[in-house]
Amino acid sequence: MLAGPAPKYFTMTFDRLETTLRLRGGHRLHGAVRVHGSKNATLPIMAASLLCDGEVIIKRAPRVTDVSVMEALLESLGARVREQGANTLRISATNLGQTRAPYTLVRKLNASFDLTGALLGRLGRAEVPLPGGCVIGTRATDLHEMGFRALGAEVRGARGYLIAEAPNGLRGADISFRFPSVGATRNVMLAAVYAEGTTTIRNAAMEPEVVDLANFLNAAGARIGGHGSDTIVIEGVDRLRGVEYEVIGDRIAAGTLLLAGAITRGAVRVEGTDPEHHRALLSSLEECGVACSCGDQWIAVDASGTRSGTDILTAPFPGFPTDLQPTMTAFLATCPGTSVVEETIFNARFAYVNELVRMGADIRVQMDSNAAVVKGPAELEGAPVEAADIRGGAALVVAGLAARGETEIEGLEFIDRGYERLEEMLTELGAQIQRSSGIVALAESASAFETSTMPTVG
Ligand code: EPZ
Repeated sequence: MLAGPAPKYFTMTFDRLETTLRLRGGHRLHGAVRVHGSKNATLPIMAASLLCDGEVIIKRAPRVTDVSVMEALLESLGARVREQGANTLRISATNLGQTRAPYTLVRKLNASFDLTGALLGRLGRAEVPLPGGCVIGTRATDLHEMGFRALGAEVRGARGYLIAEAPNGLRGADISFRFPSVGATRNVMLAAVYAEGTTTIRNAAMEPEVVDLANFLNAAGARIGGHGSDTIVIEGVDRLRGVEYEVIGDRIAAGTLLLAGAITRGAVRVEGTDPEHHRALLSSLEECGVACSCGDQWIAVDASGTRSGTDILTAPFPGFPTDLQPTMTAFLATCPGTSVVEETIFNARFAYVNELVRMGADIRVQMDSNAAVVKGPAELEGAPVEAADIRGGAALVVAGLAARGETEIEGLEFIDRGYERLEEMLTELGAQIQRSSGIVALAESASAFETSTMPTVG
């Protein structure tokens, strides 16, 4: 334990309460941990519950802030949401009345755009703020709009909102996407559930979270087939009933934990996740010399034999997931040789690289090709760093685990959007990491860091 000096108290008017993650790296992770439920499956399933006539019970919903924001959004539309225990949500949308989602909540959550399809399907009208862009890139909606129009809705933009209307109901249609957008596939699926006749979505997204949404809808009485392939067929129905449903394990959180094990050259096992969701990650890790094994709902990696980096190209599922690109890049920074990481899904997903470079990584981002050239092996060193988005934040945590000395990560609110107590899962694997809150004066934040009374890890 660190017997640090007494805490500092600040009297400046600009003081703020800051929660950070502090970790001491350089220790091999080992052991087993169970991953929480999928954020990106839970959020659209919550939106889908607006289509159900009867109570929906969602089990294994992760306790992350994005889910809390979606809870508030559903309530703002007239649904009743109750939390039961840590990970169960009970949602009743019988009295749904509002068709306009409030901007103050929607701007916090891109997944809230899924409400458009659900509201349009249920009430024949939706008014949802356009997502525009966020720190990882442009969030276009042309495919969503094209899909709604094909179903017979009138769609227009007004004062930053997308307004979709179908007062006489929607009709099934044959819809072909130029790109397998996850969000547009979900939105069209949600709207088409109540459309008259058959809807076919071609070049549909095949992500496991899209499959989980279809499985949920079918459990509630929908007639959807082909999910998991590139062609989804939806036969319209008159009613969806209430249902109890358990979401899949979070493959991105699971991948983050596996990469945390790998970057420390440790041996970890992650339970509660389907190995079929991880083929691209596992084959990339194997190319680096990491031994991977798996069984029913578990994956284990042993990184003691890591010998090189590898090239990565993010792509729609079953390709390498963009959501693991930052964490994989952190791992590759510690591997011998040159690795090229090419991002093809979002156009600005390398912001975290500057912080990795401050920790000693040798990474050069080529803006024109949206790629990063990673030269390793770097000896990472702990540093105060700041997360700017969910997955970039996770990459800093993973890098900190391999770094010499202490790393303090600000911007924890981003990590908390997508990971349920990441530090607790990592602690189970032997990481020396903890959440620490303190009053920070803007002018004195550097000295506050130095005089913290947090127990030393290590
Ligand atoms: C989902 O976002 C996930 N979000 C993202 O996870 C994930 O990175 C992404 O899918 C890709 O796997 C949720 O599930 C809540 P897209 P989504 O529609 O639906 C362009 C995380 O960290 N596009 O497949 O927004 C768009 O601009 C988040 O958990 C169009 O051009 O993904 C983007 O560049 C981040 N026109 C690309 O496609 C459209 O109409 C991918 O978007 C729609 C999208």
